[in-house]
Amino acid sequence: MSKTAILELDGNKYEFPVIVGTENEVAIDIDKLRSATGAITIDPGYKNSGSCKSEITFLDGEEGILRYRGYSIEQLAGNANFLEVSYLVIFGELPTAKQLEQFETDIRKYTLINEEMKNIIDGFPKNAHPMGVLSCLTSALTAFNPKSVNVENEKEMYEAVCKTMAKFLVIATWTYRKSMGYPLNYYDNTKGYVENFMRLMFELPTGPYAANPTIVAALDKLFILHADHEQNCSTSTVRMVGSSHAGLFASISAGVSALWGPLHGGANQAVLEMLEEIQKNGGDADKYLEKAKDKNDPFRLMGFGHRVYKNFDPRAKIIKKAADEVLATLGVNDPILNIAKKLEESALVDEYFVSRKLYPNVDFYSGIIYRALGIPTDMFTVLFAIGRLPGWIAQWKEMRVNKEPIGRPRQVYTGPALREFVPFEKR
Ligand code: CMC
Repeated sequence: MSKTAILELDGNKYEFPVIVGTENEVAIDIDKLRSATGAITIDPGYKNSGSCKSEITFLDGEEGILRYRGYSIEQLAGNANFLEVSYLVIFGELPTAKQLEQFETDIRKYTLINEEMKNIIDGFPKNAHPMGVLSCLTSALTAFNPKSVNVENEKEMYEAVCKTMAKFLVIATWTYRKSMGYPLNYYDNTKGYVENFMRLMFELPTGPYAANPTIVAALDKLFILHADHEQNCSTSTVRMVGSSHAGLFASISAGVSALWGPLHGGANQAVLEMLEEIQKNGGDADKYLEKAKDKNDPFRLMGFGHRVYKNFDPRAKIIKKAADEVLATLGVNDPILNIAKKLEESALVDEYFVSRKLYPNVDFYSGIIYRALGIPTDMFTVLFAIGRLPGWIAQWKEMRVNKEPIGRPRQVYTGPALREFVPFEKR
């Protein structure tokens, strides 16, 4: 027998269906709440509200579990590559070797960017933040690809996926080339996706460039760890914008803006800036720990805490191990790392952080590893965006295929009640 939930309001009892997910998560379906009772629910920050049913990612914050389409993040990061995981996240199944090869070939068909996009990027000042530029360029892709995708048509949707995967990677690296004053680079269709990322960023016309395979492998793993994270701020944004039937590029452009914030993806940059500041001010990590605990100080320990992970962030565990390996292989000896280690050790035994279940999150270690890989600090969040792209595409596609209604929350109005207009002379 299916479960129901009973609500009592003003002496009346109402019954609502209860939905149980694959992993036994329980949700009260309040779709008919307002029409039945006249009341709505209020939940700032959506801490208790599900916005959709989704088959893409399972996350258990208490147990520290993350799975894409049923596969554990540990197995995927250990065995698959980024495009393979992207295919899984977007289309629901691991690709066969042939499907994966075809996917890579089809992505390559779209790697050339309209030369007129260069005029747009030229309009930005050199010191513009790459995330702002990336959001604008992604939106601008709409102008060069105005035909909207028919989501019901599998072939059209597949082409849109390949096009987005191809063009987003190239324009993401262009934001860096612009900031450095380097000529914009082109994708090399004879090379792999992640290797191309390194080439697009760092290859100069003045000499040959060979991407370091250790760095390419580490980045591949980092992208996998970021590929999706269910209904986080940027993904919810992508679904929300897409729910108005705005196109894929426009929706992803909004997702980039949401990701930019320091409480979300922007935290990886903020972590490094925080570590640099601690180093500049004498390297006293404990002083910053005290600042983070002081309720009169707005400072937060960046890279700590998570809305849903209240045990540990499984991505952080994998990255920490990868960071140790990469740093050892590359022989990196960075004093910033000692500060990071000290902060981590102290926070993990500090009553404030322990009682609030604040553990290092993915961004604490990703910033450290990106720095070791030679990625400039203000590109860190752009890398998060490249990794998250398959998740955004998959969630947008799912939302449209499921014909979800336009996202339109309600509110409880707390402003003035009706009042008479007051003319200027009486104000
Ligand atoms: N440093 C110090 N105190 C903190 C921190 C922190 N990083 N994070 C949370 N707290 C405290 C907060 O002050 C509150 O204390 P109290 O109960 O005494 O008022 C308590 O912990 C709960 O915090 P909250 O703000 O209600 O938690 P939230 O779930 O709304 O916020 C968060 C989650 C990630 C926004 C927050 O932990 C934070 O700001 N962390 C730093 C930014 C960061 O690293 N973000 C990256 C998240 S992982 C990447 C991603 O997926 O986006």
